[in-house]
Parts: sequence; structure tokens; C-alpha cells
Amino acid sequence: MRSAQLALPGVLAEPSIEWVFCEQGEEENDVQGFAHATVMKVEVTASLAPDGSGVYVDATLGGGGHTEAICEAAPGVRVIAIDRDSVAIEAARERLSRFGDRVTIVHASFGEIRRVLSDLGVTRVHGVCADLGVSSPQLDDAGRGMSFRHEGPIDMRMDRDDGETALELIARMNDDDLANVIFKYGDERRSRRIARSIKRAYGDNELRTTLDLRRAIVRAVGPVRIGGVDPATRTFQAIRIAVNRELDELDALLAALPEVLEDGGVAAILSFHSLEDRAAKYAFQDRETWAPLFKKPQLATEDERALNPRSRSAKLRAARRNARPS
Ligand SMILES: C[S@@+](CC[C@H](N)C(=O)[O-])C[C@H]1O[C@@H](n2cnc3c(N)ncnc32)[C@H](O)[C@@H]1O
Repeated sequence: MRSAQLALPGVLAEPSIEWVFCEQGEEENDVQGFAHATVMKVEVTASLAPDGSGVYVDATLGGGGHTEAICEAAPGVRVIAIDRDSVAIEAARERLSRFGDRVTIVHASFGEIRRVLSDLGVTRVHGVCADLGVSSPQLDDAGRGMSFRHEGPIDMRMDRDDGETALELIARMNDDDLANVIFKYGDERRSRRIARSIKRAYGDNELRTTLDLRRAIVRAVGPVRIGGVDPATRTFQAIRIAVNRELDELDALLAALPEVLEDGGVAAILSFHSLEDRAAKYAFQDRETWAPLFKKPQLATEDERALNPRSRSAKLRAARRNARPS
């Protein structure tokens, strides 16, 4: 199977988990084409416990794996599935066509969940899940420029119709700002050296493709793979997170959840990055609003971890919305 999301070494004490970096090709894979191996499908679905004629939101449709599992779990439920990637949406639309109007697909960012629901005339929903980060097909598509393994434009946007590209971000930021991005989102100790080298390459007009970007990184830190990990991995991850404002999006989603969930509704957040997990953990600590379903985050089973390298860094946090005071 193809590994997909990238993760950082955790800064959290619990539970003990190995945050692994993996990009396609660094691990053995067997998923072909658009396929994306859904992580912790059983656990996410069990947390939401789809039931009756409930309405659920899959905030990260991707290949449609979680949406499909929710629909299969209960024949009367409906899913509103959001993604900011129109290519993913088209592929998932086909996969999910057998569910007819039980699935409503919306091209949007999940940070806009309130607007998405209000546009559909939905006030509250019974559950929301989010499987964060990027999908395997997004990493595999050279044209998106998310991977240092394929030559492509330095773009990295999940939604190619919106926002600045990675190259525009590099052009806009000064050395210090770029180093801060690489340090914060990539946990990269050599961030200053790398940022200087990238900016120099940009200034010399040598930064045209993802391979040029990798070259600038290698020029700063050398070609040695540490722990089997390419020297460009952390920097590519960091720039991608900044380009897509992934943590701002998550904060906006977490802030909206108490409003959009019914009393007793469940939020399930599957994260692959220590900063994402920390945000979910803190949000669910508000005990006036939330009752966590489990004390510590759930991890993928040994079997899933063996089959799907990407699942090794997954952490699932889920919480039930308390009843609003009457
Ligand atoms: C890991 S994949 C989801 C895979 C899906 N659960 C499955 O099983 O096929 C993450 C998806 O979320 C989308 N995504 C990431 N951040 C998003 C955001 N802020 N708003 C909407 N979609 C987002 C990406 O475009 C990608 O398609």
C-alpha cells in the first residue's frame, strides 16, 4: 500500500507512538491509481456509531473510504462530505454513486463547515469525522508538487484554484519567516540553513521544480538519509502545511464543532502530526462541552500498522458533545 500522510516526531508524552515520516516509495506499497487506503476505518465508524436517519459530516472526503463506511453502517443515514480537492471529489463521486442522494459532496474547506451546512439548510448534525493531511493520490500526482520524488511545479496546494503556491510562499517570505515555517511544521533543526539555501536558489533563478527545491535542501544539509528518511521530507511537509494553512483550518473546524453538533453528537479527529493531535486534545479538554470517548487517543491495530505504514502515526481522538444547558 502507498504511504500517504507525513508526520512529525511527537512532542506529547502520551501515548508512546513512533511518529514516522513516510512518503511514497519510502515504504512498501500496493495501492494503485487513485486508491487511498482508509486509516482506522472501523474505529472512526465505531466512534460515530451512525444510526437511524442521522446526518453525518465527513470533513475530509478524499477517496471516500470513511463516507462509504458510514453509509454502509446504517442504511438510513446521510453524509455531507467535504473536500477542497476537486480531483478527489470527482473520483469519490463515482465510488459513492451507489448511495444516491444519501451522500452530498461539497467542494469547500472544512474550516467553513458552518457555511457549508447553512447553505444546505442543515442546522445540526449527529457526527463529524476528519482524517487530516493529504491523500496518497495527492502525493503521487507530480503536477501538484507535493513530493520531492516527482518532478513538478512547486505548488503543493490541495485546492489548485485557491491560494498561493509553495513557490509564491517562498518568494514572499524572508529567510527568517521561511526558517520558522520549516522549524515549526517540520520540526527541522537545520531550518535556518535550509531556508537560506532555498532563498538563495530562488534569488539565483534556480528554483523551478520540486527537484530544484530538493537540491537546495540537500545543498544545505547534505544527501544523507537519517533513519531512512530523505533530507527533504521535513521541509516539504512543513511548506505544504503552511501553503494549505492546515493548522488554521483545523482550529476553525474545532471551533465550529460545538455549534454544528447535536447534543450527544460525536466528533472524531484522526491526526498524523503532533501539532494536529495537540489541537484536538486541547479542544476536547473543555469538559463543559465535551465528553471524550476514550482517555488516550486510539492507535491503529498491529494488523493495520503492518499492512499500512501510514497508519503507524495515526491518532484518533473522539468526543461526544454534552447536552446544551436548557
Ligand atoms: C487523508 S485524505 C482523506 C481520506 C479519506 N478519509 C479516505 O478514506 O479516502 C485527506 C483529504 O482531506 C482533504 N483536506 C485536507 N484538508 C482539508 C480542508 N481544510 N478542507 C477540506 N478538505 C481537506 C484533502 O484534500 C484530502 O483529500
